[in-house]
Amino acid sequence: MIEENKIPNNWWREGYFFGKRYFYPDNSKDGYLMNQKETLEEKTKRESEGIIKLLDLEKGSKILDAPCGYGRHTIMLESLGYDLTGIDIDKEHLLKAQNDSIEKKVIPTLLKRDLRNIETDLYGQFDATINMFYSFGFFQNEKENVQVMKEFYNSLKPDGKLLLHTDVSPEMIKNNTTIKQSIRELENNHRLIILEDYNPTTKRMEGSWETTDAIGNVIFPRAFYSMRIYSANEFEEMAESVGFKDIEFYGSFNGEHFNNKSKEMIMVARK
Ligand SMILES: C[S@@+](CC[C@H](N)C(=O)[O-])C[C@H]1O[C@@H](n2cnc3c(N)ncnc32)[C@H](O)[C@@H]1O
Repeated sequence: MIEENKIPNNWWREGYFFGKRYFYPDNSKDGYLMNQKETLEEKTKRESEGIIKLLDLEKGSKILDAPCGYGRHTIMLESLGYDLTGIDIDKEHLLKAQNDSIEKKVIPTLLKRDLRNIETDLYGQFDATINMFYSFGFFQNEKENVQVMKEFYNSLKPDGKLLLHTDVSPEMIKNNTTIKQSIRELENNHRLIILEDYNPTTKRMEGSWETTDAIGNVIFPRAFYSMRIYSANEFEEMAESVGFKDIEFYGSFNGEHFNNKSKEMIMVARK
């Protein structure tokens, strides 16, 4: 079990866990889902095409990517003909997203915003809002996590849809369909060493990342995180409590329903 006192309360703040320390080792050669080898590029393509399929979005639709990280879905979806706004709290991520956009010759809107207060200029603007890859439950105070769900609701046009995706949930831990401790092989024989544990008392996944070279020299020292993880029932209740309706759970981007073999959980809900 990770010692809780090693995890800073606002571990998600700029310049601690996220930034280069996160996006460098996120580019793994090993894959991200259990027994499923795929590159970051292949994963991003699979997810982006799945988002369009599950949300049934017409080209040109306005999509909010919250948080967008270093922009992998924002850029891919913009390249596929959608109108993207990506928001994130981390400047280094936004800068990488901007540079990668220039390289791919696309111009998404990129804004530095806090998920708890996306600001009213973004209210009622979007046909869809996406929350990708284990990006919900940062905050210790449950009210703040609910506030993020409310901001997703606020971002949408009437009838707009939210898609929330994670590869970690209490069901997946119980059914053993999520990867826990792992060493991921990176470019140049570098390695990402992930140590993590689910704490059933706090209902949080507590963990840390360290990046080393092939012989164990540290490139990015160990940094800690703690995410509240939610079951499908908990997500459904929270989404309903802020006003969402027609809530569905999928177990992959192919569209089958979430079940005890699923390696991903995708909630789609309507405003
Ligand atoms: C796990 S990454 C995922 C990013 C992206 N969705 C993806 O799939 O690559 C989580 C992101 O959440 C951002 N983040 C953390 N706390 C935030 C906050 N309070 N407001 C906005 N963004 C935040 C981090 O900066 C990071 O880019």
